[in-house]
Order: sequence, then C-alpha cells, then structure tokens
Amino acid sequence: MPSDVIAIYPGSFDPLTAGHLDLIHRSSRLFSRLIVAVLRNEHKHPLFTVAERVEMLEEALGNVANVEVDSFDGLLVEYATAKKASVILRGIRAISDYEFELQMTHMNRRLQPQIETVFLMANEQYSFISSKLVKEVYRLGGNVSGLVSPSVEARLRSKLPDMNHSRGDAK
Ligand code: PNS
Repeated sequence: MPSDVIAIYPGSFDPLTAGHLDLIHRSSRLFSRLIVAVLRNEHKHPLFTVAERVEMLEEALGNVANVEVDSFDGLLVEYATAKKASVILRGIRAISDYEFELQMTHMNRRLQPQIETVFLMANEQYSFISSKLVKEVYRLGGNVSGLVSPSVEARLRSKLPDMNHSRGDAK
C-alpha cells in the first residue's frame, strides 16, 4: 500500500474557476502531493498566457502546503512519469464530461498502464461552471462573481475591457 501518492491535476485553467479550486482543495486531502499542471498548448488559443494562469493558481493556492503549481507540454503521462506521479486527477461535472474523460483515461492507460486516472465529482454548486462559459458571460457583460475569485475577475477585466463592466454595475 503506497503511503506517498503524488497526483497530477492537469488542465487548461483558462481561467481558474471556483470549481477548479474546490476540486484542488478536496483532492489535496487525498494525496500526499498534488501538482496542478497547466497545459502549454497554444493551439487552444487561450485568453491567458501560461505564466498568467500559473500566477492565478499560485495566488489562490499559496497557503495549501502540499499543492504546487507547474506547467507542462507534450504527453501528460510522460510528464506524470517524470514527476513520479501515480495518479492523474480529473473532475466530472455532468454526464457530458464523461465521454471525453473516458476516452482520455483509456488512451492514457494504454500509453502508461502504471498511472491511474482518479475522478472526483464536482461539487453540485459548481457543476455548471466552465472556463469557457465564464469567459463568454464576462465578455457579454454578465456577472461572474462567485464563479471565479476576485483576483481572476480583475484579470478578466484587464484582458477583456468591456463597456458593460466599466461602471461596476454588471448584471
Ligand atoms: O482543462 P482541459 O482543457 O479539459 O484539460 C485537458 C488536458 C490538459 C487534460 C488534456 O488536453 C491533456 O492531457 N493534454 C496533454 C496532451 C496529451 O497527453 N494528450 C493525450 C491524452 S489522451
């Protein structure tokens, strides 16, 4: 029975949401070390740079002792192996996430059978939040407070200056 289990929580985190943070806090109690790893993939045309996304995570997680933040490119299982991680952690919000997650899990297992993917169900209060929807709602002038931290909201403001948010009375 291994006592020191290192887990990788990979993702785009563009931007970090309250759902991601909830998953990180909950899973930090399950593993001896949790590495939150931002994918460096410019093909996804992210809104925030990798450095900005790493900063967001560091700002939010500075006080969680066994959680660290990193970035990676290439194959996730190779990165996980290099970090001596035996677990890939992912969250599932709804059945719609399941199909893609299942595909990735099988592919990753085929590539590296020693690494298990472990899923946590998103907390129901965050189960509708995605980075994509947060960006869309913000762009269209909607209120995203509670869906992201105030500091991520400030970063959205500086990235997406929007007349609907300029008076601070967004809907
Ligand atoms: O937050 P996301 O965008 O759902 O995260 C997707 C991520 C980063 C987990 C996935 O794209 C990934 O693992 N990319 C690394 C490349 C890789 O290993 N691809 C094969 C995995 S099936």
